[in-house]
Amino acid sequence: MHTTVHRWFTAPLCITLYTVICISHVTGFTYGDCMVHDPKQFRGHVKFFCNKKNLKQVPPKLPLDVTDINIAHNNISVIKSGDFQNLIHLGTLNISRNLISCVEKGAFRDLISLTELCLSENRLTVITNEFFNGLTNLKLLLLENNSISTIENSSFSVFHHLECVKLSGNKLRDVESMQPVFRIQTLNVLHIAHNNISIFHSTDISNKSLRLQVLNLAHNPINIFRISADIFPHLEAVDLSFCFSNGGLKWEVLNTDFFKNVKRLEMAGVNVSEVKSNAILQAFNKSLAQLTLSAVHRAKSLINSTCLIPTLTEFTLRDNRIRNLTGTGLEKCFQVKVLDLYYNSLSNLENVFASLKNLTSLQLGYNNFSYIPNMIHNLSMLETLNFVFNQIEKLDCFTFGNLTNLKNLYLYGNKINMVKDCVFKDLINLKSLYLGTNHISSLGGAFKNGPAKLEHLELSSNSLSSLKTDDFSGLKSLSSLRLNDNKIKVIDNGTFEALSSLRVLNLLSNKITDESLTPDVFSGLSNLLQLHLQKNHILKKDSFRKAPFSHLKSLQWLSVLSQSPHKMKSFLPSNFLWNLTHLQSFWAQNLGVKSLHVDLFKDNTQITELALSGNDLTALSPDIFLPLRKLYKLYLEETHLKTLDFLVQANLHHLYYLQVSKNQLASINHSIIQSLPGLRLLDMRGNTFTCDCSMAWFIKWVEEDDLTEVLAANKYECNSPPNLIETKLLKLDVQSCNSQDTAFFFYISSFLLVLLTLFTSLIYHFLHRQIVYVYYLFLAFLYDYKRQGSSKSCGFQYDAFVSYNAHDELWVTSELLPKLEGEQGWRICLHHQDFQPGKPIVDNIVDGIYGSRKTICVISQHYLESEWCSREVQVASFRLFDEKKDVLILVFLEDIPTYRLSPYYRMRSLVKKCTYLSWPKARQDPRVFWEKLRVALGARRGSEEENSLSDVQNVL
Ligand SMILES: *[C@@H]1O[C@H](CO)[C@@H](O)[C@H](O)[C@H]1NC(C)=O
Ligand SMILES: *[C@@H]1O[C@H](CO)[C@@H](O)[C@H](O)[C@H]1NC(C)=O
Ligand SMILES: *[C@@H]1O[C@H](CO)[C@@H](O)[C@H](O)[C@H]1NC(C)=O
Ligand SMILES: *[C@@H]1O[C@H](CO)[C@@H](O)[C@H](O)[C@H]1NC(C)=O
Repeated sequence: MHTTVHRWFTAPLCITLYTVICISHVTGFTYGDCMVHDPKQFRGHVKFFCNKKNLKQVPPKLPLDVTDINIAHNNISVIKSGDFQNLIHLGTLNISRNLISCVEKGAFRDLISLTELCLSENRLTVITNEFFNGLTNLKLLLLENNSISTIENSSFSVFHHLECVKLSGNKLRDVESMQPVFRIQTLNVLHIAHNNISIFHSTDISNKSLRLQVLNLAHNPINIFRISADIFPHLEAVDLSFCFSNGGLKWEVLNTDFFKNVKRLEMAGVNVSEVKSNAILQAFNKSLAQLTLSAVHRAKSLINSTCLIPTLTEFTLRDNRIRNLTGTGLEKCFQVKVLDLYYNSLSNLENVFASLKNLTSLQLGYNNFSYIPNMIHNLSMLETLNFVFNQIEKLDCFTFGNLTNLKNLYLYGNKINMVKDCVFKDLINLKSLYLGTNHISSLGGAFKNGPAKLEHLELSSNSLSSLKTDDFSGLKSLSSLRLNDNKIKVIDNGTFEALSSLRVLNLLSNKITDESLTPDVFSGLSNLLQLHLQKNHILKKDSFRKAPFSHLKSLQWLSVLSQSPHKMKSFLPSNFLWNLTHLQSFWAQNLGVKSLHVDLFKDNTQITELALSGNDLTALSPDIFLPLRKLYKLYLEETHLKTLDFLVQANLHHLYYLQVSKNQLASINHSIIQSLPGLRLLDMRGNTFTCDCSMAWFIKWVEEDDLTEVLAANKYECNSPPNLIETKLLKLDVQSCNSQDTAFFFYISSFLLVLLTLFTSLIYHFLHRQIVYVYYLFLAFLYDYKRQGSSKSCGFQYDAFVSYNAHDELWVTSELLPKLEGEQGWRICLHHQDFQPGKPIVDNIVDGIYGSRKTICVISQHYLESEWCSREVQVASFRLFDEKKDVLILVFLEDIPTYRLSPYYRMRSLVKKCTYLSWPKARQDPRVFWEKLRVALGARRGSEEENSLSDVQNVL
């Protein structure tokens, strides 16, 4: 009995519990230190990041739908054949900066979608024939900085789409050994810089013409360069920088047409004789447009012949220690449009520049100019002028003459301390002006009336201490204004009034105080999208009289993080963000904020990104977040949080990334995760947990590979119980927790069982008869129910069913039966005659009773003691109950005193209520007895027995 009950009792319960446990909507997973969802990105590819994590092998469980893998900067030494199995969607694979010396056969065979493979900075020495098997769609192959000295003959033949191969920084000695690479039909770009190539012979490379467009040969000690056939007809760019270190270079390009399409040539650090340099230049004297002659000892002597290349338009002469250019022949470079003289020692522009009439871009950064020479005025075609990091101190009204075409002016990194109002007046086409890292303390009206087309103004890292009303009033087109890293303390009302086109205003790292945060200061900035107010002195006030940014109707991005003095308690006044109805990102880290006002975000329903890290938000109320219905990323790192329960009510249905690292979260409730259906990335690093069974769900959840990635979950540690301190949370034996659960469950169920058994026995003991009675009532009910419809309307088979004890059979057969059947003509059912053999006795009885209109119980001492009889009474009395009519006729064969009936209290109450006939009394005059019986049998619906229902209920 115990086991059966156990089975039917526990099975459904188990199923229920299992269902409760298993059906939850958000499940989690972790790749340990690795990451699949990039918090820096919103949506997109499935990118697997695991760079710089001390990996010794490729992580075993890569997501099958991964499109990008970055496992650079680790200690992986072998790529095993199964490492990238089945990753058929992988597009880019970055395994640079590892210790790979061996790639097993077929390691890349499944990567049919791979287009970029980066194996740079490893320890490869040989590229075997099978190395790249499978990579038929590769376009970019990076093998830089290995120790490759051998490339086997057919190793590169798998590629059908490879366009770019970078083999720089290896140990390849000759181009012959690179023939497999040159044979790639689709190759456009080849880098073989920093190898050991000393002979570059076209016949060693190919006898057919190649498609190559870009060839980087830099830093090879080439001493023989011989091109005897037109194998590079498509070559456009060649890098020969720092080649030919050996003085005895043999340069033989047999036909000047061989490089007829080369437009770009880099010859930095080519220190060969002037004659040889000229020979090299001659070989490219067909369509060369861009030439770099940097870090060349005798650059000046080469300028002359270079300027004879009629197609040259961009000439880079960096880092050549040039002090002056007189006599170099530069004046002949009138075809040059872009002249780059960075990193020289120029301090003046000589007459030679006068003839560079076509110059549109002049780059003079990192020279010794202390002023901008007047010669500049002649360069009226100039569009870009660059004097960065010189010694320029002042700008005069005539400095820029009439450079009306100038678009970009780079002046950062000088010593300019003043700008007069007339300085930029003629620069009517100026779009970008970079004046950062100077000593400017006042704008002196320089932008009061223009330049009207200026779009970008950079004034960072100067000494501005205040901004005046007219400072920017002429900059109608200004789109970005960078004023970061100044000493701005005061901003006048209306300073930005004219800047209706301004999109980005950067005031980071100044000394702005709350006094400058009034709506009027920002008036006019109706199109501002981004406002940087980080690292100032704001947010010291408890409240603002008016919402400070109420004019910034379009603002999407606002940062106020890290106000100093840093550690002071500060507040976010409740109206701080009011009217910012378009705000999407709000950055308010490291402010010492203790709590947030419920109304703070009331207007900011568009916020998707909210950063509150580094504050002191021990407790947060869910109400704060209710307006933030679109919140996508929430940063709450290091905020002294002890619980995340506030999230349950916060309604953050779109939250994708939750960063709650470095808090005091000892546990996390499942309901929190359930309340964040959009959660895909959870960062709880730097918390320590209570390692008991309350975290069992979490451990399971993390390990289930589905929706939410839990960053570095394998690193989470326990802080209690004491014996588990510093144990890893995920190492906790959830199984044991489970069995504890099950044990508890079995304990509870056995306990319940014992109780049940006890209770049952008690009931059985004391209420045995009632139970058996109820059981038969139930049977009768069932029977009746079955019969319903089938025989209800049909007549009865018998007029009476006689229920009697075997001891009384003689009376029944000799007295009762002859009278009733013979004389009175009733059809009588006796179980001895009429029961169907083989049918269960109870069924026979029930059939008998129900097949008869009445039931006659022949009651004697024996009858009362017999079980069967009482069952018959029960079924009959149920009919009495059910059909509300008197079907029971009690015939007492003996005089039974009521007290003797008391053990058979059912009978007693029946006797009390029902009509009953007594045989002993009738002996004197049996006619009356039979007549009464005849009447009783003949009675149909007994209206006089209305109360029988309640009688039976009493019986029960
Ligand atoms: C590979 O990853 C490293 C580390 O993230 C990165 O610096 C490098 O640029 C990547 N290389 C490519 C080709 O993406
Ligand atoms: C090109 O032809 C020459 C002479 O027929 C031969 O020596 C050389 O090996 C060939 N080069 C290649 C790359 O096939
Ligand atoms: C380049 O060719 C032009 C003629 O087209 C010639 O005048 C000039 O000297 C050549 N320059 C060099 C460096 O060979
Ligand atoms: C302005 O340019 C014109 C030629 O375009 C030139 O004649 C004039 O001298 C220039 N003005 C100054 C101040 O250099």
